[in-house]
Amino acid sequence: KEVVVSGIRSTGYLHLGNYFGAIHNYIKMQEDYNCYFFVADYHSLTTHPDPKDLKANVFRVVAENIASGLDPEKVALYAQSDIPEIPELYLMLNMLAYKGELERVPTFKDKVRLNPDNVNAGLLTYPVLMAADILIHRGAKVPVGKDQEQHLEMARNFAQRFNSHYGELFPEPQVFRFDENTVKIMSLDGNGKMSKSENVNATIYLSDEDELIRKKIMKATTDSGPQEPNSAMPDYIQNIFQLMQLVSAPDTHATFLDAYNNCSIRYGDMKKQLAEDMVNFVGPIRERAAALQQDEDSIRKILKNGAEKARARAAETIAMARKAIGINYY
Ligand code: TYM
Repeated sequence: KEVVVSGIRSTGYLHLGNYFGAIHNYIKMQEDYNCYFFVADYHSLTTHPDPKDLKANVFRVVAENIASGLDPEKVALYAQSDIPEIPELYLMLNMLAYKGELERVPTFKDKVRLNPDNVNAGLLTYPVLMAADILIHRGAKVPVGKDQEQHLEMARNFAQRFNSHYGELFPEPQVFRFDENTVKIMSLDGNGKMSKSENVNATIYLSDEDELIRKKIMKATTDSGPQEPNSAMPDYIQNIFQLMQLVSAPDTHATFLDAYNNCSIRYGDMKKQLAEDMVNFVGPIRERAAALQQDEDSIRKILKNGAEKARARAAETIAMARKAIGINYY
């Protein structure tokens, strides 16, 4: 079975972007692949979260993944910090990662611009840690959203560099997804992608209550409608159609699309329909996740069990990497 690896940072509440860009693909892959899915708690430390919040953040990500349909019996579901082989490989890869290339990564440049007071080395080497997460399992496929593609390209570069220095060990991990429609879920105000921390009112979280979901969708950006039949859609309208395609019945989507194309669409009605379908979609996930979070013991068991599975493979990889490098003294 091919090895699949992916992670989600424990930096806040998960939203529709995380669901459709990542979790939805995890669930589809869990039957047919050898899957390693983890909570990237080390990655969350770049912004120095309050130690008191860390555990709840990690447990919530686990609960929300399981509530969405991930089966911890079928995959290894674990916390990054439970796998000491990851930081070891990270150290090795850091010797092959160059300052210049790391400084050129667009997400790094964004962080520097937005937060010039906290340009720490962990932020700079973020893509190296991410490569270590993947390569520690010799991962071949990585289900992620569009925003992570650049990081994946760097992981391939580091893999290749290691291989050419020390001999073939790592496959070059490829981005994987079932459906191009889900690679980038936009914010409801039409400004950029949905994200954990920005535009809270234009982001639908898996933990949002029904009324809040309705309110957010009714406020989604629209306009007075198309002026000519079959006109091109502005991004924010396309976004509403995209969400409808993901959570509503196919004929509901088709009906509104026809209405758009013949200029009879009423966005108020469309949003009302989308809001109800969204409530029916998110509601059960929210309820299951809330119930699971009450049961810390089972989350702990799931993480322990996941870490055991992940460490078994990680230990194999790190032994091979040490040997390849020449750390082979006794
Ligand atoms: P993170 O925690 O920001 O996001 C988790 C996953 O959700 C996807 N995603 C989206 N997809 C579509 N539309 C959106 N609006 C949207 N927002 C987020 C992300 O692409 C991601 O797949 N660096 C990673 C975590 C990570 C990782 C890894 C991923 C650490 N190590 C190794 C894969 C492999 C991150 O911050 O994702």
